[in-house]
Amino acid sequence: MDALTGTRVLVAGEDRSAVQLACAGLAAHGAIADGSSADPGAVAAAARKGEPPAAVIALGGTEQALRAGLDPLGLDVGPPVIGADELGTPLGAVAARRLRTLVQLHALRGRTRELEGVIAAQAVSRRRENAAAQLDGLRRLALAAEYRDDNTHEHTQRVGHLAALLARGAGLGDRMVRLVREAAPLHDLGKIAIPDSILLKPGRLSDEEYEVVKTHALLGARVLAGAESELLEVAERIVRHHHERWDGGGYPDSLEGEDIPVVARIAAVADVFDVLVHERPYKDSWSVEAAAEEIRKGAGTQFDPSVVEAFDELGPDGWRSDGEAG
Ligand SMILES: [Fe+2]
Ligand SMILES: [Fe+2]
Repeated sequence: MDALTGTRVLVAGEDRSAVQLACAGLAAHGAIADGSSADPGAVAAAARKGEPPAAVIALGGTEQALRAGLDPLGLDVGPPVIGADELGTPLGAVAARRLRTLVQLHALRGRTRELEGVIAAQAVSRRRENAAAQLDGLRRLALAAEYRDDNTHEHTQRVGHLAALLARGAGLGDRMVRLVREAAPLHDLGKIAIPDSILLKPGRLSDEEYEVVKTHALLGARVLAGAESELLEVAERIVRHHHERWDGGGYPDSLEGEDIPVVARIAAVADVFDVLVHERPYKDSWSVEAAAEEIRKGAGTQFDPSVVEAFDELGPDGWRSDGEAG
């Protein structure tokens, strides 16, 4: 069998008779050889006709210009452009064998790239699966924490939903809105470590008991510390800082104003509102309007005024809406 049997090759050059001669030389070794001018557009058009060529042979030193024209981003896509000088002239048996080797090498490079792409994609999906599994575990933990002092078990999800609406209203981008939607339900993760006798106590807590409750922010943050996914980093900020106050009087770090991560300022409003309008062992439920008034009153002291503004803009339909926030 000839070295180039069945291999389609394009020969590009400005000298028509040289192109014809080269085509004949390659055809003698089994190639299906077509000629073209050395214009990249003409070569690309010729390549699109019929079987994709395995190589473009550039005559008369045109290979640089052809490579630049055919593969302007240098991505090594499409057929390799090979200068006739690289093959050795005349295009006889030696050149045909060399061409076959170059074509095979090019195909091998392409397959290697594909394989690298597959490996990289697998690594990404493994990381995603890890993060998803981690998130799932934490969700269950947050739910377990919540089950104890929320008889509808839906507080965490409602906080996630309202926080996402507030995040959008406060001007955060789509990506951050989605992260807030997923991360805010974890805000009270640390309550898992607070004893029932305190967490479920009806009526007022003693100062000491309140100090114990306050540890849930740091305990929860400790569970999430060092997480590698962006989602869990956002969750850590929310978990740690959702009880900070705009005026600096909150816990655990007494952060003030914009030093409090914005995602935590948002979660704080969503959390307090939802707790107010639902019943807890230690309190009755408030009307939506009374709770909204409480949020408004807290602007600039307990809450970030711009988040309260976003809250106000949502109105009663938004505050009580259920379902998926994007
Ligand atoms: Fe909390
Ligand atoms: Fe909460």
